[in-house]
Amino acid sequence: MGRGANHGGGDQKGYLMTSETWPADRRITIRDLQAATDRGERWSMLTSYDALTAGVFEQAGVAALLVGDTSAEMVLGYHDTLPVTMDQLISMVQAVVRGTRTALVVADLPFGSYQSGPHEALASAVRHLKEGGAQAVKLEGGRRVLPQVETLTGAGIPVMGHLGLTPQSVNVLGGVRRVQGRGDAGEELLADARALERAGAFALVLESVPAELARRVSAALRIPTVGIGAGPYCDAQIMVWQDMAGLTTGRLPRFVKRYADTRAVLLDAARQYVTEVAAHLYPDQSHSYT
Ligand code: KIV
Repeated sequence: MGRGANHGGGDQKGYLMTSETWPADRRITIRDLQAATDRGERWSMLTSYDALTAGVFEQAGVAALLVGDTSAEMVLGYHDTLPVTMDQLISMVQAVVRGTRTALVVADLPFGSYQSGPHEALASAVRHLKEGGAQAVKLEGGRRVLPQVETLTGAGIPVMGHLGLTPQSVNVLGGVRRVQGRGDAGEELLADARALERAGAFALVLESVPAELARRVSAALRIPTVGIGAGPYCDAQIMVWQDMAGLTTGRLPRFVKRYADTRAVLLDAARQYVTEVAAHLYPDQSHSYT
C-alpha cells in the first residue's frame, strides 16, 4: 500500500529531521525508520567504514550507516566494488559498530557472498550480524535474489534491497555512470521493488534512476525508499560520505552535492605539517614533554 501524498514535493510535512527524532539510549531499529517514514519524515543515511567517521555522522543525526562495498573504492583503492571480501567488510562493520551507540548499522553483502543462493546468503549475513555486530544487511538485485531475501528475512535478518544501478553488475551494465530504469525498464524495476517488499525487505535503495520513477516506486511501497541519484521523492537519502564531504576528486556524478571541501582542509593541514617539520617549528616546547 502506497503513501501517495506523503512523498516529496513542497507540501510535505515533517521535513525537519533532527537527532532528537531518534532514541538517545539505544540503537535505532528498522521499526523506528518505518515509523518515521509513516509520519512523512525524511531521514538520512551515509556510508561509513571506520569508527571515527561513524561517530561523527551519528552525532550529526544520521539515522543509519551503511558499511558499503564502496569501501573497495573509497578505502581499499580498487576501481570498482567487486574485490572487497566478507572478511574485509566485517572488520569495517566492527569498527563502525564500536564507534556508534544509536545508529542502525547496515552491512553490505559483497559480490560473491550471496549470488549462488539462499544458503550462501544466510551464511554471509549471519557473519555480518554475529561477527560484525551489524543490525541489517543489504544486497543488490530484484526478483533474481528473492529466494535469498526470503531466507534472510525468514531467519530474522533485516534486509535492505538495492535496485537501479547495481554496481556489482558493472560488467553487464557497461559502466556505473548509467541511469537505469528509463522506458520499459521502469516497469520492471517497479515489479522488482514490489517483489522485494513482499519478500520482507525493510527498505530499498534506488540508485541512479529517473526522479519520476523513484516517485512512483516510493508511492507504490510502504517500506522506505532510500535514494542516491534518484531525485527528491524518496523517503530517505544516502550518499557515499567521501562524496558528500568533498574528499573524492575528478568528475563526479550529477547527483553528488559536496557539503564541504574536506580534501582542501586535509591537504592544507598536511602541507603545513610538512613545512613546520622541515623548518624545525614542530614540535616546539609546548608540544614536548618536560
Ligand atoms: O556500497 C555502497 O556504498 C552503496 C551505496 C552507494 C548505496 O551501495
